[in-house]
Amino acid sequence: MEPFGGGGHSFEIAKKLQGTGLLIGIDRDEEAIEAAKKKLADFNNIKYIHGNHDEIKKILSELKIDGVDGIILDLGVSSYQIDSKERGFSYMSDNILDMRMDKTSSFTAKDVVNTYSEEELYRIINEYGEEKFARKIARNICEARKIKEIVSTGELVEIIKKSIPAKFAKDGHPAKRTFQAIRIEVNDEIKPLYETVIDSIKMLNNHGRLCVITFHSLEDRAVKKAFTDALRKMHMS
Ligand SMILES: C[S@@+](CC[C@H](N)C(=O)[O-])C[C@H]1O[C@@H](n2cnc3c(N)ncnc32)[C@H](O)[C@@H]1O
Repeated sequence: MEPFGGGGHSFEIAKKLQGTGLLIGIDRDEEAIEAAKKKLADFNNIKYIHGNHDEIKKILSELKIDGVDGIILDLGVSSYQIDSKERGFSYMSDNILDMRMDKTSSFTAKDVVNTYSEEELYRIINEYGEEKFARKIARNICEARKIKEIVSTGELVEIIKKSIPAKFAKDGHPAKRTFQAIRIEVNDEIKPLYETVIDSIKMLNNHGRLCVITFHSLEDRAVKKAFTDALRKMHMS
């Protein structure tokens, strides 16, 4: 089982499983599913699921599968999503503030930026972006939206740039951490992660393997805690 993204891992896994097993690919992004179907068209041992891996237990139960031999959770956003400018994930081009991985959801980055209180904005930018100028950025977003709704990534980038002193320019693009924070909030990437890992462990057959690929310390922390807790529970039972 794995999120398709560009279908990179799936290709190799499906190849190895040919004639012996089934690969279930779950992605919350319908475009990723469509791209994977094209890339993996030669395989007949793949099941494509548009869904959220947070619901792994429900998805497998609907497929009448009690356990699996391996799971890969390749977390976060794909380069395909970032490169698709109109999806609004990138601070490198001016587009609508969207950032939804699942386009069937109605909650977007525009909602976060224009409706969250200053305190909520501070909390997510500080916590999910680990941005030291979170307070100033949150305040400046609230000031700017009093004048006009913030609708584009370009407008947000300008607000962030004005909030960060020039001498910190060497810390990468000034909008990088805030965009990460808003994306995590829009897609609720951290809160369900601990339970997803616990549920995934429960769905493994004997000698099954779970592999989680993380991209930042927040994901890392949740995943390590879930593994540690699951191991402790196993030793106690
Ligand atoms: C890093 S990419 C996966 C790349 C893929 N493994 C490959 O080799 O090309 C992450 C993918 O996971 C999907 N994703 C992120 N969170 C998800 C979730 N909670 N449920 C399902 N899919 C998710 C994203 O839509 C994205 O397509």
